[in-house]
Amino acid sequence: MSVKNICCIGAGYVGGPTMSVIAQKCPHINVTVVDLNKERIAAWNDEDLNKLPIYEPGLDAVVGEARGRNLFFSTEVDKAIDEADMIFISVNTPTKTYGVGKGMAADLKFIELCARQIARVATTNKIIVEKSTLPVRTAEALKRILENTGNGVQFDILSNPEFLAEGTAIEDLQNADRVLVGRENTERGIAAAKKLTDIYANWLTPERILTTNVWSSELSKLTANAFLAQRVSSINALSELCEVTEADVNEVARAIGSDSRIGPKFLKASVGFGGSCFQKDILNLVYIAKTYGLDEVADYWEQVIIMNDHQKRRFAKKIVETLFNTVSGKKIVLLGWAFKKDTNDTRESPAIYVADYLLSEQAEVVVYDPKVPSEKVYADLDYLNTRSESENKSLVTVVSNPAEAFKDSHAIAVCTEWDEFKSYDWNSIYDDMLKPAFVFDGRAILDIDNLKSIGFDCYSVGKG
Ligand code: NAD
Ligand code: UGA
Repeated sequence: MSVKNICCIGAGYVGGPTMSVIAQKCPHINVTVVDLNKERIAAWNDEDLNKLPIYEPGLDAVVGEARGRNLFFSTEVDKAIDEADMIFISVNTPTKTYGVGKGMAADLKFIELCARQIARVATTNKIIVEKSTLPVRTAEALKRILENTGNGVQFDILSNPEFLAEGTAIEDLQNADRVLVGRENTERGIAAAKKLTDIYANWLTPERILTTNVWSSELSKLTANAFLAQRVSSINALSELCEVTEADVNEVARAIGSDSRIGPKFLKASVGFGGSCFQKDILNLVYIAKTYGLDEVADYWEQVIIMNDHQKRRFAKKIVETLFNTVSGKKIVLLGWAFKKDTNDTRESPAIYVADYLLSEQAEVVVYDPKVPSEKVYADLDYLNTRSESENKSLVTVVSNPAEAFKDSHAIAVCTEWDEFKSYDWNSIYDDMLKPAFVFDGRAILDIDNLKSIGFDCYSVGKG
């Protein structure tokens, strides 16, 4: 029998968009996304599609089409679990902040809680799908929990990691390069995997749906992120070399990216990568390698993070050094707070670290981001715990209109590559600023020659 009812536990950046697209493409399947977070679920149910809890281009249209038809958002977790034939676990798996593996291993407490809840509530057989990013061999632990605490119900566990990137999630889901399904190579495992691949086959061609064993699937997800982040750290390492040799990192990226074996994507030099997953997943990979005693493997991948930390710090340091080695009392405008364009997600955003560095040098920081509200900016800074909440409030101003930011500022630092920054009237911005006026382009998106001709002193990452 094919799947009729899906439950997804976790209505976040993955659960929300992923299930919305499944519901859109499979009107014959009821999809219920559940979460413990009442405000988040209320926002998913808001009549005003501009108030969905995450900003993702095209998401509003997909939710608008499917919600209320076969897509539902609810806080009734037990009910949704019990009614489902297939349960996706899409909860957060952050880096552990305590105990063994602190700062490296993935914290699986939310995953385990889901497994225990499913085991307690389920009265019919279920297919459990690991959608969250998990350490290799997590399915083994899930199986033990489900089988030892269940009530005679049969569970089949599949690994189906998600490869969407924020900002392009809907396109990534509707036109996925590949979907990965990891399953046990048994009659039951193969049958369960068929039910999941049949769902994706509603909109993806068979060659895009890959089947592997469970462990390959789990490890491939961590590996894909490690390879992508490694490319960013590689080009960022070269950006520093470009700056001292007068090579231009954008030209180098184009030159090497034209080799079809290397390819052009993920070669954009930047202030450093951010986001909720690259750092967390590489740290997890490093931790796994260490637990198997593979120290060289662990050191190799850790270097990707070390390079990224260096790049964030280097950018902030460059600002201070260029502003005559002191930013104390100087007004510095940060353009962009999200970790990349077209998302309101700020997790691990480089802007947070740049701001923190500048604040430690007693700068006055003004932040503008088209999609990030002021509460989020303050919460991100408070989370670092470098200074008190009241100090953060008094040193940082968040504006919702960029024009308010520039007046009497000493410098502008581009931290996110939002398109709108490119179309600003830089002549009038220059007029508003104190002279000499500085621009630090941490995303290499602005026309630096034009800015220089206006009168700005400019730095663009990776340009000599
Ligand atoms: P998120 O924090 O945005 O969402 C997770 C949600 O799960 C939260 O709303 C939380 O309240 C809910 N939750 C936690 N425990 C719960 C429970 N027991 N019952 C009900 N709800 C519960 O996280 P996310 O960004 O969606 O990431 C989820 C997983 O997907 C992570 O493992 C992540 O590594 C992976 N992933 C993320 C992305 C991305 O772009 N964000 C892409 C691919 C994979
Ligand atoms: C990344 C992966 O691209 C997804 O495939 C994966 O599913 C996801 O992580 C995850 O597991 O969470 P995401 O973090 O949303 O997606 O965004 P990316 O587009 O990968 O960008 C990550 C960071 O790298 C951003 O800060 C971005 O600005 C930076 N970046 C990216 C660069 O600095 N240069 C580049 O060339 C590309």
